[in-house]
Amino acid sequence: MESYKIQQHKYDVVVVGAGGAGLRATFGMAAKGLNTACLTKVFPTRSHTVAAQGGMSAALGNMGEDDWRFHFYDTIKGSDWLGDQDAIEYMCREAIPAVIELEHYGVPFSRTEEGKIYQRPFGGMTTHYGKGTAQRTCAAADRTGHAILHTLYQQSLKHDARFYIEYFALDLIMDSDGVCRGVLALDMAEGTLHLFRAHAVVLATGGYGRAYFSATSAHTCTGDGGGMVLRAGLPLQDMEFVQFHPTGIYGAGCLITEGVRGEGGYLTNSKGERFMERYAPNAKDLASRDVVSRAMTIEIREGRGVGEHADHIHLNLMHLGPEVINEKLPGIAESAHIFAGVDVAKQPIPVLPTVHYNMGGIPTNYHGEVVRKVGNDNDAVVPGLFAIGEAACVSVHGANRLGSNSLLDLVVFGRAAANRAAEVIKPGAPHKDLPASVCDAALANFDRLRYANGGSATADIRLNMQKIMQKDAAVFRTGETLKEGCTKISQTFDSFADVKVSDRSLVWNSDLIETLELQNLLGQAVATMYSAENRPESRGAHAREDYKDRDDAEWQKHTLVAVDDKGKVSFDYRPVHMYTLTKDVDVVPPKPRVY
Ligand code: FUM
Repeated sequence: MESYKIQQHKYDVVVVGAGGAGLRATFGMAAKGLNTACLTKVFPTRSHTVAAQGGMSAALGNMGEDDWRFHFYDTIKGSDWLGDQDAIEYMCREAIPAVIELEHYGVPFSRTEEGKIYQRPFGGMTTHYGKGTAQRTCAAADRTGHAILHTLYQQSLKHDARFYIEYFALDLIMDSDGVCRGVLALDMAEGTLHLFRAHAVVLATGGYGRAYFSATSAHTCTGDGGGMVLRAGLPLQDMEFVQFHPTGIYGAGCLITEGVRGEGGYLTNSKGERFMERYAPNAKDLASRDVVSRAMTIEIREGRGVGEHADHIHLNLMHLGPEVINEKLPGIAESAHIFAGVDVAKQPIPVLPTVHYNMGGIPTNYHGEVVRKVGNDNDAVVPGLFAIGEAACVSVHGANRLGSNSLLDLVVFGRAAANRAAEVIKPGAPHKDLPASVCDAALANFDRLRYANGGSATADIRLNMQKIMQKDAAVFRTGETLKEGCTKISQTFDSFADVKVSDRSLVWNSDLIETLELQNLLGQAVATMYSAENRPESRGAHAREDYKDRDDAEWQKHTLVAVDDKGKVSFDYRPVHMYTLTKDVDVVPPKPRVY
């Protein structure tokens, strides 16, 4: 192994990732007097949060009656009773101060006539525990993520957080007691290695959507935090639950916000039928995403898809008129024009369910602290390690996330992690001395990939993985397709031992970076496929055709999945938290989930 020179930095906290969750945590920690660094592989305002369109949920009640308890109920039902109810209570209650804070920080929300934050309806969001329709999603036109991300970056600069931009995090530095002591990273511009010591490392690295062929996720969404956690020997949680957004642009995968249906848009099949009326008589096009994606898939399978190959669906918004489109949905009008060649005022948008979100991730409590099972303790904290945002599984989304609960999750748990870090870390506390060998395992992995000289190109292995995931861990799954998927994804995982990196340089070496990203993706692809095969029931986004019902007696539990460096998979389970934090709400017991 080459002998690498490593520059050392010491901070109270290091946040990895500068999307919505990472920036909210970064400035929250800096504002509380912690010496805070944020490492990010892309410029902060290019993080994937920038692409979030429709909005952020909070029961403000600006556009009609609402209550955070209704939001709590909707989120539990949306999660198909896999969400932890203490964490859901925390998120839905804290949504209100969190969004008001954002307004004060400067997020340019759209406004009502009276100047209040504009809110639109989104799928699965109701009043009175399923009876009415809630207008709960706070929006900045259809560019809400952009507005929030820029504001959070400005706040981080204002509070003097230190940014390390275009740094790629390689591995967590864990000591022999299982405490996280920092993170090793590569400065991609200079080609230098850096050890960031910290009393807490916060993984805010986003999802792993790019394990699939067609995803609304940016190409940077490679689940780097999840990959590091697996290499540290820690498990991931509920990886079988992958959300397909009903309206990705056919052929391109770009997101068309659910806000289109919130503003009155609707789906039609080749017969011009508004088919959602058959699948969800009450909520119709605003049913939960898993329900709408399944309905679209059935319509296509049964020969009622549109287009030359009858393989997609139409999203209609022509009737909304130019005023609504220009004021509320200008971004999607532009995307539909660029990516589908469609004038939304005159033509429907061709759409298809497209991978959008990972409900699973790094298990945490509602403070953002990473948890693991130790003996009888299901919620033992991993000292020094936090995870937030899509990288984490709190679990507030359970088996299916409601649209607009993601931006909320980022902000609420980014803030929660900052509050917790300020409670447990004393600013300026000294760092424990570590043995000189502490980076050896991370460096060995890095060096092995840098000098990998096999026969398979990174891009070829990645394409295999993406096609297998797309085909076998899809909207509908069966034991047969999943078994085949497990065999094939394991073969692909094994083929990574034969990867070839053709450029040995450390400076701006995209071949090396894509290979490191692929390693992260592969572990999570294996975790997803095997976890799906292992769960013989249908719940939320995990729809098994051979086990069509939810099985609460056996399977109302979180899957913990570990994947070792040979690709060997092992499972364990944690109970779902069926308790609340206060007496302000009652636990919602499982019942049939109809919309
Ligand atoms: O449809 C959308 O605007 C996406 C929102 C979300 O995933 O929360």
